[in-house]
Amino acid sequence: MDASTTTRITAVTNQKGGVGKTVTTIGLAGALAEAGRSVLVVDLDPQGHATDGLKVPQAPSGNGVPNLYRALIGEFTGPVADLAVTHSQPAGRIDVVPNAFEMFMAVRDVDKVKAREQRLAKLLNSARGVWDYVLIDSPPSLDILTDNALTAADGVLIPVEAEDSSLKALELLLPQVASVDADLRIKPLELHGLVVNRLRRPPSLLAQSVLKEFATLDGLPVLATVPLGVVITEAWRYGRTVVDYAPESEHASAYRSIAETLEGVAR
Ligand SMILES: Nc1ncnc2c1ncn2[C@@H]1O[C@H](COP(=O)(O)OP(=O)(O)OP(=O)(O)O)[C@@H](O)[C@H]1O
Ligand SMILES: [Mg+2]
Repeated sequence: MDASTTTRITAVTNQKGGVGKTVTTIGLAGALAEAGRSVLVVDLDPQGHATDGLKVPQAPSGNGVPNLYRALIGEFTGPVADLAVTHSQPAGRIDVVPNAFEMFMAVRDVDKVKAREQRLAKLLNSARGVWDYVLIDSPPSLDILTDNALTAADGVLIPVEAEDSSLKALELLLPQVASVDADLRIKPLELHGLVVNRLRRPPSLLAQSVLKEFATLDGLPVLATVPLGVVITEAWRYGRTVVDYAPESEHASAYRSIAETLEGVAR
């Protein structure tokens, strides 16, 4: 890790399903690693999509096995480095805390443990000083796992689509962020902004009007727009980031510009 930076933990969050949380997490990891940064991707979604999209093996499940679920329920108390597997080492590196099958029990079981919203923060404290960036791929829900992501992170990135349903989703997510700030955090979470994903070119009239509404949201800038494109699904199929798979694409450029925003915040 570069001695001039401190570890920056970013939650990629929206309780709305399928808006591009995982694709944003992976694309951004690719852009940061291309710029020479070390990145830890944490697959907090029991669906295990980040693990699948990066084609790293699932962690084993079972009593006494070190995995994310066991860490969240307080059974594994070691450093997060013990849970990480390496995906690739372009200029920097991408490591992953992969899904374990038993993550499906996390929502139920983390609810029963002490300091339940702080379990991930406790684990990720051991990432500070080890990786430049930690990116948390959150599940599509406003539950105890998302609360853990919002408590553990320094900042949040919100992928959205240029649709009314995404505006509606923000009406639920932003109060949740505020309540986590009020109840669980010392320093407020930094709202880095929106990533408008899967934008059709040219944008429909409806999409244009939603984009205009996004632009009026105070303190929530649109950091990038990512077009709908087959390179995203192809890169996923081959377990590569789109920055590595299609470096000349507009998609790769979008993730590079989000990476630059984070680099600006980190310094
Ligand atoms: N810009 C894009 N172009 C083409 N396909 C995309 C794009 N962004 C996402 N997809 C595809 O859309 C689907 C949903 O994206 P993704 O899994 O990133 O969303 P998500 O918010 O993480 O979903 P979930 O809520 O289930 O976790 C995936 O199959 C992904 O490959
Ligand atoms: Mg996802």
